[in-house]
Amino acid sequence: LSGYVTYDPGFKNTGATKSAITFLDGEEGILRYRGYSIEELADKATFLEVAYLLINGELPTQIQLDSFANAIKAEAVVNDSIVKVSNAFPKEGHPMCEIAALVGSMSAFYDVDGNEDPEKSILRLIAQLPIMATWWYKKSIGEGINQADTSLDYCSDFLQLMFKTPGSSYQVDPIVSKALNKLLILHADHEQNCSTSTVRLVGSSHASLYASISAGINALWGPLHGGANQEVIEMLEAIKADGGDTEKYIAMAKDKNSGFRLMGFGHRVYKNFDPRAKIIKKAADDVLSALGVNDPVLGIASHLEQAALNDEYFVARKLYPNVDFYSGIIYRALGIPTNMFTVMFAIGRLPGWIAQWKEMRANKEPIGRPRQIYTGATERAFVEIANR
Ligand code: SDX
Repeated sequence: LSGYVTYDPGFKNTGATKSAITFLDGEEGILRYRGYSIEELADKATFLEVAYLLINGELPTQIQLDSFANAIKAEAVVNDSIVKVSNAFPKEGHPMCEIAALVGSMSAFYDVDGNEDPEKSILRLIAQLPIMATWWYKKSIGEGINQADTSLDYCSDFLQLMFKTPGSSYQVDPIVSKALNKLLILHADHEQNCSTSTVRLVGSSHASLYASISAGINALWGPLHGGANQEVIEMLEAIKADGGDTEKYIAMAKDKNSGFRLMGFGHRVYKNFDPRAKIIKKAADDVLSALGVNDPVLGIASHLEQAALNDEYFVARKLYPNVDFYSGIIYRALGIPTNMFTVMFAIGRLPGWIAQWKEMRANKEPIGRPRQIYTGATERAFVEIANR
């Protein structure tokens, strides 16, 4: 068998599919969704415009966007049974565990016979993931859940779902909703990363979109992937508590025996800089000053970045800040609790996962089934237990 398979752990050099959705150039730090630069989209588009672009391949006209937004709003009421499933989850659990289960449960409550039109599933997922994502937070602060307010745009509605005390009024801060819009766009797709490859692989067995997205959420949760944004803030907090001694943590990150990695640094593809990190770093400065927030970890993050960028260990390995390095600082300034940072990543990545699943199914790709290099025992005869 080893005559014709290539051993490529982590698929570092494997082109697992053909895709027309997102283009990355790791050396040049280029990221484009359907040909449009991430810089322009983050600056000029709304998140639903970008979701439409990723899923349908073109930027929508105003009529198409209004129709898409209204169709999503029409699905912004979650099946009561799913609320009951959520109530069974302890507030001590991680919200990524809860939303992965709730999304997976949508198959049972919306698609019993497995024949739901995927276009309907798409609208339900985009409408309901943000709603379900706020339930853990409300549970954790002992408040009841809110209902969607369809008079608001997508990001503003998420903020009222999160922060409105049920029964009271809530005023969305446009600075906050604009910052959230930019963050969600920056996370919306990223070619064949771990969680997107998971969505495609699970979907290749013709599992439902709900089942495939649930698998993607679980893959994103890992600390080496989307879970890194939470790890970054916890790392920065630890450095702050330790007197802000960044040199100590740089040294630990270089020491293989320490088991410590500089979270938010390094990337499988970007060997120069992550264009999203550049945009998020500037947005962090802008948002914190606009909100009048003085967060000492921002200073620690900048100092850590400068120290690493001038250190041979990181330069030689082309380790630069990635999308997760600064995003948590903004989420925190927006009032999002730390263990919901990866949930925010999932809300942003949802349209990308959906677009990639649709493309894989439209292209009638075969079920994914990689091979291996076998390194186990050669053939041997069974030994009765009495003789072992
Ligand atoms: C995301 O793929 C995507 O597109 C993902 C993502 C997306 O949008 O979907 O961009 C989102 O997941 C961003 C990455 C978030 N993860 C982190 O920030 C965790 C910290 N980073 C690393 O664990 C690591 O850099 C990875 C996982 C991101 C990339 O790992 P690779 O490409 O497999 O690289 P590697 O583990 O083989 O490391 C190469 C070398 C090793 O040293 P040597 O054995 O060569 O001496 O670099 C070292 C590593 O030890 N290294 C680090 C390091 N990252 C790599 N050393 C210290 N700190 C780090 N962060």
